[in-house]
Amino acid sequence: MKLDIAVLKGDGIGPEVVSEAVKTLENVAKKYQHEFSFKEALVGGAAIKAHNNPLPEASLQLCKTSDAVLFGAVGHPNYNSGQLSKIWPAQGLLKLRQELDLFVNIRPVRAYEATISKTPLKPEIIRGTDFRIFRELSGGVLMGDSCLSEDGQSAFDTCSYTVFEIERIAKLAFEAAMQRKKKVTMVDKANFMATGQLWRRVCTEISKNYPEVELENLHVDHAAIKLIQHPTSFDIIVTSNIFGDILSDEAGAISGSLGLLPSASIGPNQALFAPVHGCYAAATGKGIANPLASILSAAMLLEHFDLEEEASEIYHAVERSLTAGVSTMDLVTKERFGTEMVGDFIQCIILELPQYGQFQSVEWEQSTII
Ligand code: IPM
Ligand code: MN
Repeated sequence: MKLDIAVLKGDGIGPEVVSEAVKTLENVAKKYQHEFSFKEALVGGAAIKAHNNPLPEASLQLCKTSDAVLFGAVGHPNYNSGQLSKIWPAQGLLKLRQELDLFVNIRPVRAYEATISKTPLKPEIIRGTDFRIFRELSGGVLMGDSCLSEDGQSAFDTCSYTVFEIERIAKLAFEAAMQRKKKVTMVDKANFMATGQLWRRVCTEISKNYPEVELENLHVDHAAIKLIQHPTSFDIIVTSNIFGDILSDEAGAISGSLGLLPSASIGPNQALFAPVHGCYAAATGKGIANPLASILSAAMLLEHFDLEEEASEIYHAVERSLTAGVSTMDLVTKERFGTEMVGDFIQCIILELPQYGQFQSVEWEQSTII
């Protein structure tokens, strides 16, 4: 298969982790004789620095004309005050989502056996966790009008949704559930928010077309605790933009690190693949960031193009790295494996290179496979 992939590494640890994802895709292409081409463009703080624009036209055009976008992260400590300045890095991502009409962000969450002891949660509670968050991406608080008054004394953010926006993501959520454990949990705040009431009504209507699928309605506060107390009870979670953003970071605790959570943002014609984590500015250039969320996002890219076998090569290699303890310091206590080394290990497994033995000379945190 021939794929043109736009690579927007962004800021902070974005470039380091995306480089490992590109390397992984190159290896898969080599093994399966695919032709993947990669073209880079600026986004976020890096683009503001170069062009005073978080999403320059050239970057947008590249994304529009590519088959898929591999995205890193955006952000910069200088812009932490967000809207106090007129432009800030995250605008680049928000505009890209809007321009490409990426309306759903799929965030799979799994408890890996190898990292179960690394989580702050009890193994018996999280073992077997495997759910997907379908986060709405085109509407809600992050996309609505917002304003901080001139005098800095008041502010507002608006949350609005249309039936059309809720219906299209709800359908996808139910379709996905049909292929899995046949349960959809719809998360809202219907006891207080008008948008929540709309979400509840529309999802209930859509659910009638899927009688085999159980629909569970949860208020977001309840969902937040259930996610930690009973994570295995979830299959597909569908929710609004901001609730999905918050719940998916919380879910990072289940995998043991936010550095393990990938995502796919899908629209009618375009798709973007990015780690759930942010730019982790403090770690920039140190080579300590976990590349697995980005590498797993690359696996989701392959799945998007029905390259299931190729994707499973990546999933297998990631499991091997976790089991062997070839992990960055968010997962192992000693600073032994850097970003690039983890990527190298994944490469060795995919290409079945004997060099993976070099990792053997190191004393494992927990070695069971190699
Ligand atoms: C994410 C990020 C973004 C979001 C920011 C950078 C706008 O937190 O992808 O989860 O909130 O959508
Ligand atoms: Mn987020």
